[in-house]
Amino acid sequence: MKIRTRIADALTCESPQDQIFIKGWVRTRRDAKGFSFFEVNDGSCLKNIQVIADHSILEEDTLKDIATGAAITVEGALVPSPGKGQKWEIQARDIGILGSADQAVYPLQKKRHSDEFLRTIAHLRPRTNKYGAMFRMRSQLAHAVHAYFRDRGFYYIQTPLLTGSDCEGAGEMFRVTALPAGEWGHIAGADQGKSDFFGKEAYLTVSGQLAAEAFACSLGSVYTFGPTFRAESSDTPRHAAEFWMVEPEMAFADLQEDMDVAEDLLRHLVSYIMMHCQDDLELFARFVDKNLMTDLETVASQPFIRLPYIEALEILRSSGRKFEYPTEYGCDLQTEHERYLCEEHFKQPVIVFDYPKEIKAFYMRLNDDGKTVAAMDVLVPRIGEIIGGSQREERLDVLQSRLADQGLDMECYDWYLDLRRFGSVPHAGFGLGFERLLMLVTGVRNIRDVIAFPRTYKHLEY
Ligand code: 4AD
Ligand code: MG
Repeated sequence: MKIRTRIADALTCESPQDQIFIKGWVRTRRDAKGFSFFEVNDGSCLKNIQVIADHSILEEDTLKDIATGAAITVEGALVPSPGKGQKWEIQARDIGILGSADQAVYPLQKKRHSDEFLRTIAHLRPRTNKYGAMFRMRSQLAHAVHAYFRDRGFYYIQTPLLTGSDCEGAGEMFRVTALPAGEWGHIAGADQGKSDFFGKEAYLTVSGQLAAEAFACSLGSVYTFGPTFRAESSDTPRHAAEFWMVEPEMAFADLQEDMDVAEDLLRHLVSYIMMHCQDDLELFARFVDKNLMTDLETVASQPFIRLPYIEALEILRSSGRKFEYPTEYGCDLQTEHERYLCEEHFKQPVIVFDYPKEIKAFYMRLNDDGKTVAAMDVLVPRIGEIIGGSQREERLDVLQSRLADQGLDMECYDWYLDLRRFGSVPHAGFGLGFERLLMLVTGVRNIRDVIAFPRTYKHLEY
C-alpha cells in the first residue's frame, strides 16, 4: 500500500525523495506543449505543491478531468523546484482521479470571491486559501486554550448544553421540545413543560458558568469550553445564535485575579498564534487587515488599561464625540463606546470594571457601595467586548435578594444557592467569546466568517 505524505510535510522535506505519494484537490492547472503544471492543496497547510506531469503519463482523455476542484492522487519524485517561492515540486509518474469536478458548475473557479458569496457555499469555502487558513487557526487556538489551562492546573469540565435554568437571566434562550409540532399549539402555557420530555421546560444553555461554579467550588480551578446559544434577535456582525465560549472559573479568586487571568490568557493566545500560525496569519495581514500585526503586537506586549465604569463614562462624555446611545450613569456601554475607548482613546485593550448592578447579571458580587457589582469586560479594538466576567456573589442572603430583585424563580436556582449554603468561598470567572477571539486574530469583521456553519438571526442554512 502506498503511504500518503501530507503536503505540509512534503514541502518541508530536508532532501529530495525518489518516491512520494500525495492526495489533494487541484487548485489550478496550466498547460504547456506536451506537459501541464498543477497546483495541488490537501488542506494540511496554506501552500500548494506544484506538480509537473508529462502528458504521456496520462491515460487517454483524462487531462480535462484534472481541473480546478478535482481530487487527485499523484505519485512521483520530489525534486528541487526551479520556480520562485517553493523549494520542492513533484515530477509526476502517475496521476489518478479520485473525484472530478464539472468545470461548468464548480463554484470556486475565480482567484478571489467575496465573503458574501462564500457564505452561500459554506460547505466549499474551506477549500479556499482564506478559509483554509481560518479553520486551521481556529483549530490551533482551541488546542492552545486547552493547553493554557492544563498547564496551570485547571480541570476541563464538560458542562451540559440542555438546561433548565437561564444563566444570564436575560431570557434570550432557545426552547427545546420533544413535543410533536401538532401537539405544541394545543397545550397551554405552563402545561407545555409538564407534558414535554423532561416534565419541565428545557432550553439550550447560554453559558456553562453556573455548572462550572459547582465544579470550581470543589475542584478549585476549572474551565468549560463549548457551544452556547442565544436567541438574540440582533443582527450584527458580532452576534451569532450559536457560538463557542471559553469559561474559566476559579475558587478563592477575586475580581483582580479574574482580570489578571483574562489578560494573561488573551495575551498568551495572541502570542501563540503569532508564533505557531505564521503562514496562515500572514494571509490575513496581507489581504484582510493591513494593521493586523501591529494590533496583535500591542495586545501581546502592552498591559491592558483598567478603569472603573464611571471613569469610562467620563472619558466618553468629555470626548466631544456624538454617540448614538446615551452615556448617562446606568446605561450599558454599547459597541460604539467600547470601540471609542480602545481604538481611539487608549489605542489598546481596556478592561472596564465595577458596573452598575442594574445592567449586570444577578450572580455578580455586590460591591460595598451597594450600587455597583464586581464585573469586568475586556474590550479590544475592532470588536469591543471580547470577554465578560465577574467575581461571583458568595453571600447567600445577598444572592437571594439579587435573584428576587430580578424577578427570577428562587426554586430554579436552589442547587446554585446550595453552593453558598455549604462551604461558600469567594470565586470568580469569565467568558471569552471564541469567535470574537478569531475575529481579533484574523482581522475578519464578520462573525459569520470565523465559524464553520454560522447560525444567525433568520439564517440556518445547513
Ligand atoms: O458577557 P457574556 O454574556 O458572559 C457570560 O455569558 C458569562 N456567563 C461568562 C462567565 O462569566 N463565565 O458573554 C461572554 C462573551 C462575550 O464577551 C462575547 O465575547 C461572547 O461571549 N458572546 C458572544 N459571541 C458571539 N455571539 C453572541 N451572541 C455572543 N454573546 C456573547
Ligand atoms: Mg457581556
